[in-house]
Amino acid sequence: MNCTPRFPAFLHGGDYNPDQWLEYPEVLEEDIRLMQKAKVNAVSVGIFSWAKLEPEEGKYDFAWLDAVIDRLWAGGIHVVLATPSGARPAWMAQKYPEVLRVGEDFRQAHFGNRHNHCPSSPVFREKTRAIDRALAERYAGHPAVILWHISNEFSGDCRCPACQENFRRFLQKRYGLLEELNRHWWTGFWSMTYTDWAQVEPPSSIGQGANPAMWVDWRRFSTAQCKDFLAMEKETVQAVDPSLPVTANLMHLFWDYDYFDLAEAMDVVSWDAYPSWHIGDDYLEASQFAMTHDLMRSLKDQPFLLMESTPSLVNWQAVNRVKKPGMHLLSSMLPLAQGAQSVMYFQWRKGRGGAEMFHGAVVGHDGTADTRTFRDVTRVGEALEKLAPLYDSPKAPAKVCMLYDWQNKWAIHYAQMGRRENMDYDGTVISHYRALWKLGVNIDFRDMRECTDLSQYQLVIAPMLFMTRGGIEEKLRRFVEQGGTLVMTYLAGTMGEDGLAHLGRTPHSLTDVLGIHTEELDTLTDAQHNSLRWGQRVSRISQVCELIRADTAEVVGTYGEDFYAGTPCLTRNHFGAGEAWYLAARTEDGMLAAWYGELIRALKIPRALPTELPDGVVAQERGGAVFLQNYAPERRIVALPGRMRDLLTDTVAEKEICLPAYGVCVLTAAE
Ligand code: GAL
Ligand code: ZN
Repeated sequence: MNCTPRFPAFLHGGDYNPDQWLEYPEVLEEDIRLMQKAKVNAVSVGIFSWAKLEPEEGKYDFAWLDAVIDRLWAGGIHVVLATPSGARPAWMAQKYPEVLRVGEDFRQAHFGNRHNHCPSSPVFREKTRAIDRALAERYAGHPAVILWHISNEFSGDCRCPACQENFRRFLQKRYGLLEELNRHWWTGFWSMTYTDWAQVEPPSSIGQGANPAMWVDWRRFSTAQCKDFLAMEKETVQAVDPSLPVTANLMHLFWDYDYFDLAEAMDVVSWDAYPSWHIGDDYLEASQFAMTHDLMRSLKDQPFLLMESTPSLVNWQAVNRVKKPGMHLLSSMLPLAQGAQSVMYFQWRKGRGGAEMFHGAVVGHDGTADTRTFRDVTRVGEALEKLAPLYDSPKAPAKVCMLYDWQNKWAIHYAQMGRRENMDYDGTVISHYRALWKLGVNIDFRDMRECTDLSQYQLVIAPMLFMTRGGIEEKLRRFVEQGGTLVMTYLAGTMGEDGLAHLGRTPHSLTDVLGIHTEELDTLTDAQHNSLRWGQRVSRISQVCELIRADTAEVVGTYGEDFYAGTPCLTRNHFGAGEAWYLAARTEDGMLAAWYGELIRALKIPRALPTELPDGVVAQERGGAVFLQNYAPERRIVALPGRMRDLLTDTVAEKEICLPAYGVCVLTAAE
């Protein structure tokens, strides 16, 4: 599958904002020459161009964009064309203030910034449709244009009267009767019973802020609103030409919307990845971004695009570090190893002013190609050309599946339990993922609704599956029965998707599969610890200790301390033709690495490189090639299983290969 069928090649380029440079014609000419030099083949144009495209209500000016697109195309550069709904012009906010969002405290925003429209506003929708249609009519058939980039990084929600009305309609559809809403929101508590739909308002800091079921429904509603807006834009542009695919750029494990759901409204998934290199441990940082790349690939189970990344530094961290030598190529190969079909940047050229004038860009204020950043970018362009044979080769089918579920994440957060500030669902999924990534196995993600067929997997891991939905209990039961290996952890099967706690023993409907039941949830301060004793080994436990009882399960590990010392912490149960593990406490990375190492070996799950890799080094497979990446600040020697050729340097290594600090190579078997 190709993300951009009109130009089936790795895309290299990024956000291009020529509308900020219209008074500098020589700069616009020079851009093309520099893009060619940097081996840029595609740029995203028009992302925040509404004020330039429609300077006055209903009066469009496309002349400048015609010239930009024609100039790019004459230079052999393709265009990812954006719709401008990510920011609205000042005249619109002035004339129709209802296009601006109403916040969490029911206050309306003023004009300024971006990403702050009301998704319900009929005027905003009408204006968006009109400009989208005009753009599509003018450019969808242009040979340069290969993809629609809808809006920019959709985020947030709105509490204006129109959105409130839509929220009530959403709830009426979900619950039918007000009594049902009262039942699911458990409104008998604190005398919150609603007697009229008009009394139902969005959750807020000055009204109802503490009802978990309501909050989760609000997030579902916000997702539905965003999806509806995206679908409207998609339909509008594709009414003109249905063959031009649509993407919307997503963000790292983003809180506001359920991305599995949102992804249904786009043809191609793309996202903006901004790791913070050289602040802490780069290997840990890389593993979280690898996880999100795999998640993005999994949203539609197809290749995805890296739509933005920085060629050097960002400007919005507390401390902004430039990439050390090697890191730009290395960090650009990371998404590729997980299945991406592009390396794109924010942004092509640094603006002279505005909030991002000092954010990294391919071309700086000096305007030359003679910079370290420009050379790094060119090197990535060259690497992508060398890797062209891998373009439409995906990763080999994964044998391991992890569950990651947005609705579960929201449910854990709003439930007000345990470590109230942060139960750290994301961190937990990442730590389990990291152990598997390090082992060089391929990993798919599914949410509870999406995982209709688990039979293609040998190992399914469901960390912190607090809320069950989509019949997941039955799906997991069948998977184990038929011979699969299941891993579950603390919090499993505690509440239903209807917002209510499960009654009876938990994990709900899975106690026989797991051979255990859970009894109490203890959480620790950061200074407190417990330990897991398993076999001859002792591993540290932090933050979360669930007290469980083993029914039919074999106790593989026990707690080392506290009044529950000696009680089960790690268990294994045979069920049907498979087995189900339960890990009741939060253990350190070392334990997860050792435990998953044994599981992967026992299940004979394929690994990118079967050898032991030194600290900081990871190997990932794609299209039969091995992306060997060194995130350590020192060189590393890696033993190879045989003669291998590095596609990036076209050299052959015999028994071992030496990777410099932040070095990367892409290896295939050599004759
Ligand atoms: C992204 C955004 C870009 C730019 C970039 C800076 O989130 O889409 O427009 O602001 O961050 O890192
Ligand atoms: Zn609104």
